[in-house]
Amino acid sequence: MLKVALVGFGTVGQSVARILCTRTSAGLALTHIANRRVERKRVDWVPADVVWTDDFERVVSSDADVVVELIGGVDPAAGWIRRALEAGKSVVTANKQVIAQCGDGLLALAGERRRHLLFEAAVAGGIPAIRGLREGLAGDRLVRVEGVLNGTCNYILTRMADAQVSFSAGLAEAQKLGYAEADPSADLDGADARAKLAILSLVGLRRRIDVEAVPLASIRAIDPIDFAYARRLGCTIRQVARAELLADERRVLAFVRPALVPLSSNLARIEGNQNVVVVEGAFGGEASFSGAGAGGGPTAVSVVSDLEAIARAGADGHAGWPAAPAADGVEREFEAPHYARFIVADRPGIIASVAEVFSRHGVNVDAVLQEPGWSKAELPFVVTLERCSSAVVNEALAEIGSFDFHVRRPVWVPILASEGGRS
Ligand SMILES: NC(=O)c1ccc[n+]([C@@H]2O[C@H](COP(=O)([O-])OP(=O)(O)OC[C@H]3O[C@@H](n4cnc5c(N)ncnc54)[C@H](OP(=O)(O)O)[C@@H]3O)[C@@H](O)[C@H]2O)c1
Repeated sequence: MLKVALVGFGTVGQSVARILCTRTSAGLALTHIANRRVERKRVDWVPADVVWTDDFERVVSSDADVVVELIGGVDPAAGWIRRALEAGKSVVTANKQVIAQCGDGLLALAGERRRHLLFEAAVAGGIPAIRGLREGLAGDRLVRVEGVLNGTCNYILTRMADAQVSFSAGLAEAQKLGYAEADPSADLDGADARAKLAILSLVGLRRRIDVEAVPLASIRAIDPIDFAYARRLGCTIRQVARAELLADERRVLAFVRPALVPLSSNLARIEGNQNVVVVEGAFGGEASFSGAGAGGGPTAVSVVSDLEAIARAGADGHAGWPAAPAADGVEREFEAPHYARFIVADRPGIIASVAEVFSRHGVNVDAVLQEPGWSKAELPFVVTLERCSSAVVNEALAEIGSFDFHVRRPVWVPILASEGGRS
């Protein structure tokens, strides 16, 4: 019988306790619940013999076999995970920040102590993506991992696509439904998905990447009009987090940014606050895992599945994570066709001015698209660009952005085909 100490009795912690207390599992017994000022957390559906404490040291010195860390944040969570491993306990966590920032060191410590450190719930909440990559696809050599890893962004973007609501109305809806934090910056600007991407790179590509080196672009600039143009191109818009092993197998191309993706792609098919993880293997091709990326119930299922895996292996039967080398660096620029959207006060010569700048930067314009029915005072149009470097598009757009005909800053996003940009 595996003795389980739960540290953090919030949304996920309570859902984990519910499962452990209501579902019959021969192998797991909840023995401790720790939380700051724990008295206000007590519930009557937890068995009377469970110890409630607000002192983490009491958990460390207890006879619990596994500590489940569900307090969130890096400090004190990372230190507590370290303490638990040093005390000979296995650890299960849902904490993406800790694993993205300190995962390699903690996994090495778990290996030294021959204890388990599992974190299925840290990426894409209820989807068994980590286990899928680590075990189900262990026979392949993964070269690309990507996904829609932030349910808040996906909810807002699908509402903008389906109901033509503005970005701010979509965000307000997400907040009302409890999908978005009061401060949604980490979701909208990509930091949340970036931490999950770093974990997918570690587990899937077997490369450690510096989280801070992954470039981010926010979804805040996307407008409902972009979905109309995207549809004309057979695409929709998603916040895409991508990490890809470059041909030298040392550097990793990585980014989190809004992108056009084909309507038929695995990235486009998930709706609302769902998540999807898509991987490309050198031998097996593409595989995807989708479902609920958050929520107490789905996330708790992943946590309990980790506990079941430890119970099956035995607390001493450490499965081991091979050490992942650090990537030689994160490549920020990539080649792709691009989409550039302009909203201008119309006058003759605008398209010629835009085309001249692209041409001077060696970028070929593929098409100019203009939906009818807009006022000349605020006229949107889109230019699609043939495959070229994101750095060059950035430079050209900076120059174009200085013209005086813009009503809003130009926006560009890559058009990502499923074959990726391996170069
Ligand atoms: N919620 C989801 O859908 C979801 C999905 C995937 C992963 N996760 C991850 O799961 C973890 C838990 O998330 P959550 O949504 O359950 O968070 P939460 O509802 O805020 O719960 C955190 C709990 O930990 C307690 N806590 C925080 N800091 C503490 C400290 N220093 N000492 C003692 N107790 C402390 C909090 O107590 P107070 O009540 O006093 O604040 C609260 O009860 C996070 O790492 C999160 O990223 C969550």
